[in-house]
Amino acid sequence: MERGELQTELLEAVRALKEQVSNSDSLSVGIDWRKSSGTATAQVETVYANREEMLKAVRREMGDCQLCPLGKTRKNLVFGEGNPEARIVFVGEAPGADEDEQGHPFVGRAGQLLTDIIVKGMKLKRKDVYICNILKCRPPGNRNPQPEEISKCEPFLKKQLRIISPEIICALGTFAAKTLLNTDVPISVLRGRFHLYEGIKLMPTYHPAYLLRNPSAKKQVWEDIQMIMKEAKI
Ligand code: URA
Repeated sequence: MERGELQTELLEAVRALKEQVSNSDSLSVGIDWRKSSGTATAQVETVYANREEMLKAVRREMGDCQLCPLGKTRKNLVFGEGNPEARIVFVGEAPGADEDEQGHPFVGRAGQLLTDIIVKGMKLKRKDVYICNILKCRPPGNRNPQPEEISKCEPFLKKQLRIISPEIICALGTFAAKTLLNTDVPISVLRGRFHLYEGIKLMPTYHPAYLLRNPSAKKQVWEDIQMIMKEAKI
């Protein structure tokens, strides 16, 4: 390679890096430094211009995931959806029948209640926040997630949360709260105050499906949501 060409490639690599760094604070760049005939050449392998592209890359990485047995029984892998730049992320447990059918999180009865909390309660739009789950695939018969399933799936959630890096995470229900906080303390004790997940404020609250069965707990959920709104200055 000519000296001039090498300079151009290096300048392009630096420009791409600068662009990445200015677009986000949590980026990964793959630079492939190779030696060919005694001359170093640089090639930017993966340049994700923004968080949306980075989330798409995680989705591509999951592909037709078969890391746990749920890959065989699911209809759709429910990755998560919403604003890649969201300030608030809601994390639920796992897709139910409606979510499995449609491929979107929280679209059944519990989902309608979560939408009401976001839209009527917080005066936001669903597309302003990001919504996802601990497990991306439906456990048959809506049984509880198994530890093996959680351990295979959680790394993808961690990547999503690192990319979005929201100000606040709202963990919906026992499994989301216990998994993210790595604790066995019950949700009734965890809720009502902020905890820290990798430096991000996390509010545990009751799952909307629990609220459908126990409407009297709506008051406590509203208290938790109001704390989130106060913290986020909504
Ligand atoms: N319950 C969840 O935890 N997540 C969904 O997406 C739907 C119902």
